[in-house]
Amino acid sequence: MVGRVAEVGPGVRGWQTGQRVAAIAFAGAYADRVLVQAGLAVTVPEDIDDLTAVALVRGGQVALGALRAGGLRNDTTSVLITAAGGGVGTLAVQLARAAGVERVVAATSSLDKAPMLQALGATETVAYGQRWDTPVDLAVDSVGGPVQAQVIESLAPFGVLVSISATGAAVEVNELRVHGRGVIGFGMAPLARHRPQTYRDRAVELWKLANQGSITPAIDGPYELERAAEAHRRIEERRNHGKLVLTL
Ligand SMILES: NC(=O)c1ccc[n+]([C@@H]2O[C@H](COP(=O)([O-])OP(=O)(O)OC[C@H]3O[C@@H](n4cnc5c(N)ncnc54)[C@H](OP(=O)(O)O)[C@@H]3O)[C@@H](O)[C@H]2O)c1
Repeated sequence: MVGRVAEVGPGVRGWQTGQRVAAIAFAGAYADRVLVQAGLAVTVPEDIDDLTAVALVRGGQVALGALRAGGLRNDTTSVLITAAGGGVGTLAVQLARAAGVERVVAATSSLDKAPMLQALGATETVAYGQRWDTPVDLAVDSVGGPVQAQVIESLAPFGVLVSISATGAAVEVNELRVHGRGVIGFGMAPLARHRPQTYRDRAVELWKLANQGSITPAIDGPYELERAAEAHRRIEERRNHGKLVLTL
């Protein structure tokens, strides 16, 4: 969510009433006053619009965090992103391209999303279940299950899968060893809790990338809060193109 600080809780330092803030709220965010943990809140510069802020505070942090956790470097030549059409995926595609990755493979449930993904910088678009040919150095998966297995198969030797999925499947470690592959997990909440300065620094980095035009969040909507049920159906049916945003 994005808004302004209405009240600061007892013992919380560094925040003032009226300050512009973006944050993650795990519940209760469909409201005009939202309680958030100070550790999950970041300041938002006035030159960042609300839609950009709300897309980046979660999707940007997760996409950037997962790519960095997987060792994204200037010499990474290929990256695969699943759920590429969602809020995290559309930003991961753009962040990988902005980092200079040559091959960015966007995997999605429907190739209807291919034109959007290509416009965001994907060099290849594939559908789950299709044959994916060339191996990749780094993959970010938020789908899990059979898609996760397919992603692991698509890793090059010493390639790394970063799982950000709540539905990640079991991994056979011996198989990883045989193929010289790696799998790790990334979670935004542990980053904010255990590396709070990195979390805040990355927020600043994301605002800067947006201001430079290196990334432009893909927004589905925005929808007035009264249309929340319709918006939820769009996600359930995987029809959202980018980050679905509700406004009050
Ligand atoms: N680790 C973390 O800290 C963290 C934080 C936030 C989110 N996440 C995870 O990242 C994932 C993506 O989040 P998001 O914000 O990008 O979501 P979102 O904007 O709501 O996008 C959802 C997209 O996921 C894809 N998808 C794949 N399987 C799906 C299914 N069974 N039902 C609905 N959609 C499905 C669809 O895109 P395609 O058609 O392109 O497949 C859909 O459009 C979620 O699974 C979430 O749990 C992890």
